[in-house]
Amino acid sequence: MLNRHEFFEKHGIFLTIGILIAVSIGGIVEIAPLFYLESTIEKVDGVRPYSPLELAGRNIYVREGCYTCHSQQVRPLRDEVERYGHYSLAAESMYDHPFQWGSKRTGPDLARLGGKYSDEWHRQHMQDPRSLVPESVMPPYAFLSRRALDYRSIEGALKANRAVGVPYTDEMIEYAVRDLEAQVDPFSANYDALLARYPKAQIRNFDGDARQITEMDALIAYLQVLGVMVDFEEYQAEENYR
Ligand code: HEC
Repeated sequence: MLNRHEFFEKHGIFLTIGILIAVSIGGIVEIAPLFYLESTIEKVDGVRPYSPLELAGRNIYVREGCYTCHSQQVRPLRDEVERYGHYSLAAESMYDHPFQWGSKRTGPDLARLGGKYSDEWHRQHMQDPRSLVPESVMPPYAFLSRRALDYRSIEGALKANRAVGVPYTDEMIEYAVRDLEAQVDPFSANYDALLARYPKAQIRNFDGDARQITEMDALIAYLQVLGVMVDFEEYQAEENYR
């Protein structure tokens, strides 16, 4: 039995094939269960598709390459959990296409950013990061406050997300433009309908300028919803890491 490996050792090509077979078996054993295990994406309450305004903000986040300096994934390690909050759950990024986990942290992780700062803080920070954090190396994004948000294609954005599995309904797509406009207007007639479609959506003027819907409105709406959808009071996972 122990001598059988001699054959493989003397024939490089069979050794290669043997290695491939051994590695594939290991791979299949590790990967295949993930496709049918119910716990791959844990069931949690609260995670919903992004509202049209949040989705538009997310598109700006991707366009501006914020992910080149910021990750969106709190790992289950003690130092991260103590700094950022509860470690990220798979369910929290199940509607993210493409996901923004990232691995580069020139700046801090943003997965639990929602509610950490006021809109006003974000506005100021985006306009001039060094006015708030003198040693910051983050570039300013002041132009976002001046640029009107172009949301003519927002229905298409929802449809594209639906095509890859996000459960946007026909109604959500039909009302996408109205929902987007309603989210920056606390006096909108569409207020209740928006909340019914996107529970707990934050409705207010995010950039402090009611004259137009800017890219800053959308980006801050997105930043304020990061990591706040799951209700951790309800979610009972093993809390070994806390
Ligand atoms: C060149 C790297 C770089 C890029 C690109 C960048 N940031 Fe940052 N960001 C940083 C650094 C460094 C910090 C920490 C210092 C500070 O707060 O300014 C930071 C901090 C932040 C914070 C505060 C986080 C906290 O928890 O205190 C937010 C919010 C933020 N960035 C958002 C963004 C957004 C949105 C974009 C894209 C529009 C962006 N950043 C692009 C480097 C970057």
